[in-house]
Amino acid sequence: MDNRPIGVFDSGVGGLTAVKELRRLLPAETIVYFGDTGRVPYGNRGRDTIIKYARQIIRFLLQKDVKMIVAACGTVSSTLPEEVIRDLPVDYTGVVGPACRAAAERSRSGKIAVIGTTATIKSGAYQAELARLLPGARVTAKDCPLLAPLVENGQIERDNPITRMAAEMYLKPIRDVDTLILGCTHYPVIYDLIADVAGEGVELVNSGLEVAKFVKAHLTERELLSDGKNGGGCSYYVTDAVENFWNTAQRYMKISVAGDVSYVDPETL
Ligand code: DGL
Repeated sequence: MDNRPIGVFDSGVGGLTAVKELRRLLPAETIVYFGDTGRVPYGNRGRDTIIKYARQIIRFLLQKDVKMIVAACGTVSSTLPEEVIRDLPVDYTGVVGPACRAAAERSRSGKIAVIGTTATIKSGAYQAELARLLPGARVTAKDCPLLAPLVENGQIERDNPITRMAAEMYLKPIRDVDTLILGCTHYPVIYDLIADVAGEGVELVNSGLEVAKFVKAHLTERELLSDGKNGGGCSYYVTDAVENFWNTAQRYMKISVAGDVSYVDPETL
């Protein structure tokens, strides 16, 4: 048993798709969420910058005495080097492993597509993990640089014409697959829109949900679950206006912000 919080982070609001599932699956857990809303998007940045930001946030979360760190961000998950992860004093997971395992289990044909940010797709992390789990898999990978910023800007309704047009443009070259990994945690916010564009017969893998399922299994196996005496709950830290985070999460994404939101100056990280 371990009553310390779980630390979850993302470049912005996307990681809330994982928080939503974590709260559903593990209601007794306390969650500290960090959304780097002042520096989002990460997906078009260089590797060194992404690693630098991720390390700063991890340091911040460790100061909050978390028992596990969850990079609820496809971009960080596919960029953070093994040596940084190995040196962490607490357990860690990104989204790549859990999402790829779900896709490998579900795909009947082995023809799998993954979409994500440019940094994610360029890193080849999803492609490598799928090849390891399912040798012979035929993987199509496509970067979708506009989708996360569209989500951050609240363009998320199922029939939103701008987001639909962008999704159609990106998904056009993806043919003949039975499984599509939403390799960026912002994308589950527009799950229905992507499902419409991908068409029937394509099963979507929600990286936010899969990472939450993994965290539950991992904490259970390691006997690190909270006994609930702290009452669960969330606190949030963001690097841009608190009000903007609150509005995007609650008004547009319909994900309740269940705790205090505090501003952190990224210069102090
Ligand atoms: N939510 C992020 C991801 O999963 C990143 C979006 C971005 O910052 O570009 O990749």
